Amino acid sequence: MPIAEPTPADLTILRELLGRSGEFVSGSALAGQLGISRVAVWQHMRKLRAQGFRFEAIRSRGYRIAERPARLHPGLIRASLPEGSGLNLICLDRVDSTNDEAARRLAAGEPTPLVVASRAQTAGRGRLGRPWHSADNGNLYLSFAFRPHVAPERMSTFTLWMGVNVCELVANFCRATPGLKWPNDLYFDGRKAGGMLTEARIDADEIRDLVFGLGLNINSPAGAWPAALADRAISLAEHLKSPLDLNRFTAALIGRVLLAYRAFADDTYRATFADLWQRYDFLRGKHVTLLEHDRRHAGTVLGIDDEGALLLRDAAGRTHRFRAGETTLAKR
Ligand code: BTN
Repeated sequence: MPIAEPTPADLTILRELLGRSGEFVSGSALAGQLGISRVAVWQHMRKLRAQGFRFEAIRSRGYRIAERPARLHPGLIRASLPEGSGLNLICLDRVDSTNDEAARRLAAGEPTPLVVASRAQTAGRGRLGRPWHSADNGNLYLSFAFRPHVAPERMSTFTLWMGVNVCELVANFCRATPGLKWPNDLYFDGRKAGGMLTEARIDADEIRDLVFGLGLNINSPAGAWPAALADRAISLAEHLKSPLDLNRFTAALIGRVLLAYRAFADDTYRATFADLWQRYDFLRGKHVTLLEHDRRHAGTVLGIDDEGALLLRDAAGRTHRFRAGETTLAKR
């Protein structure tokens, strides 16, 4: 179910008002810029009010934003993205899974990069076919679709690279440092704040369709988790003890992921990756149990190798590498 998209005039009004950081913008200046009457500007404002905006209006000075919608709002996201980015952005009220929607749109031939965001998912998926709790309560469900045409073996570091970029964006935006728990979890206070799910279709020995899905617990309140997640999950708002501007955050995240993707596709990311991995690696030096299919391995995490495999030193001092698996911190 799509959310109403802003008209070009709505978008110009939002850009002007957001760009002036709290200053008043005169109605006649807006009217002049848009080539419409002041009454028509007022009608746009009325429509935006119905979407959750509140404007302060002073006859001699104009308008300024007093309150903006807290929920996902395509106009607010677009207004915070660079102008003319030409991004194919789909904002939905509800969908089965943003990864599935992105894959369907790729299959239908839609242009990339394509971004699908939704306020809720009815069949959100995590790794290993697990469900991803996707209530409509201020969290973010977002998927990016690309057609990278790179060799499949290049993909082993893709999710890790994206993960450290998401960590860096969160750290810059929130002034709080998350950890990345290999291979795909974002952690705060020992609890999971986000997860990533990358799905690819391979054709003729190259990655043809790539979907990178990201579930980030942004603004859900502390008491809102189902019992099974209550002591394992956390939202950024819980950690920071104040809510985040979801739309500004989403726009910043989209910008960061698209840049990171470009560096990955051009293969210019490796030096930065090594630095960022050092900064956000949650497991290094920790004693863990790694579940690989049905085998358990215990050891101390040394880091990752060039292919993104986890390096584990066992009790006898031998190093083992794992390309996949589920890690749990060992209780000692
Ligand atoms: C995990 O930790 O197991 C990965 C979770 C990934 C969840 C996101 S939410 C947006 C996108 N759509 C999905 O169905 N899954 C991913």
